[in-house]
Amino acid sequence: MTGLPAVLLAACAALLALASPLLAGDPDMLQDFCVAHYKSLEGPLRLNGFPCKRPENVTANDFFSDVLSRPGNTSNPVGSAVKMANVEKVSGLNTLGVSMSRVDYAPWGLNPPHTHPRATEIIYVLEGSLDVAFVTTGGNLYARTVCKGGLFVFPRGLVHYQKNTGGAPAVAISAFNSQLPGTQSLAMALFGASPPVPTDVLVRALQIDGGVVEAIKSKFAPMN
Ligand code: GLV
Ligand code: MN
Repeated sequence: MTGLPAVLLAACAALLALASPLLAGDPDMLQDFCVAHYKSLEGPLRLNGFPCKRPENVTANDFFSDVLSRPGNTSNPVGSAVKMANVEKVSGLNTLGVSMSRVDYAPWGLNPPHTHPRATEIIYVLEGSLDVAFVTTGGNLYARTVCKGGLFVFPRGLVHYQKNTGGAPAVAISAFNSQLPGTQSLAMALFGASPPVPTDVLVRALQIDGGVVEAIKSKFAPMN
């Protein structure tokens, strides 16, 4: 190998090493904590995240929540309910790069296909057993059953779902490497957007007829 390519390779490796922490998840913190001061957002100030509360006004309660203590209502068409403990619910999470959720499943209930654009998810089955899966960008499905006590990982940004395999309720807890992972449901994005995705786009993309698209749209209330 001549000198020049070796220098170029070393420069690329150094750039990748520098870039990788930025690509891994939320940005790194610059102080012990930055408890979200939600009220600041009422003014003209807009930030990537939330501004910090003054430290003298921070209490232990800013780092506490019981939002995951009670089951969600699973009486809905899919038979599941997700509760998020993210920075919108727990102000102390601001800048810390982590959050959690609780998912309750009715018997045979489904947490429908969705993605988290900003986080990898690790799910732990507290009760029952789940059929879980994700699909790679190359179209490969990775699926298996996870019983009580087991965990499974959904890589950042990939479409995934869980289905209760049993006739009894199931419960899972998930952790995310983002204070606000974002959740985009595939069905809602395509059929519940506001203003709607044009029917002819969906007819062509999904190779189904317009009547079917309209029938599906009627089941999904617009998100906004
Ligand atoms: C489960 O997939 C969740 O996002 O809570
Ligand atoms: Mn998820």
